[in-house]
Amino acid sequence: MELIISIIIAYLLGSISFSYVVARKIKKIDIRKHGSGNAGATNILRVLGKGPAILVLSLDVLKGVAAVWIAKWLEIAEVFPTFTTLGEIEGLASALAGAAAIVGHNWPIYYGFKGGKGVATTIGVVVSLVFFPTLYVGLAAITAIIVTRYVSLGSLIFAVGTPILIGFTKSYYGHPDPYFYLTAVFGILTVWKHRTNVERLLKGTEHKIGKKIS
Ligand code: G3P
Repeated sequence: MELIISIIIAYLLGSISFSYVVARKIKKIDIRKHGSGNAGATNILRVLGKGPAILVLSLDVLKGVAAVWIAKWLEIAEVFPTFTTLGEIEGLASALAGAAAIVGHNWPIYYGFKGGKGVATTIGVVVSLVFFPTLYVGLAAITAIIVTRYVSLGSLIFAVGTPILIGFTKSYYGHPDPYFYLTAVFGILTVWKHRTNVERLLKGTEHKIGKKIS
């Protein structure tokens, strides 16, 4: 029961699109109709500037963190009786709650199922589950963004690098299997969500940080 409750809470939480809310509040616009059309912090940076982008990034990361911690808390506190043995699998409840938050971000129930690409929320989820591998891949991704000024390249490095590093360090850190499967599935999903960015990166026409597009 905890499993189902935490998945529902996580999906509803993930569905709050902070980029949509902030853009509506500040400029009365639908962020999905401006810039790259993506409901995410990078597009907010492009359209509204640094302050709103940092706010959106932080809130999108935090909702991923919150989804995982609510699931952990429900599991530990045993608020509801357990009806399935699935809930007994180590790490499954947190991984599924994390997955639900990312799905909510990408396909939000409150905004016609049109959301973002899920990177910030994935960061929040993965950093809560496996701190060190996420930190190392995150540093590599940030370096790539600083050097190239392509946020999408950093996102792709993060998406591909996380499952690889988690897979390789599994025996060292002793992560439960669901954490690896979560990052592998959402790594593939993130690459697919970035398919137009990949096309632009290959053509050399991807938008760089600091450049405005209408
Ligand atoms: O996380 C999204 C970022 O990687 C790309 O965003 O707006 O350039 O498509 P955008």
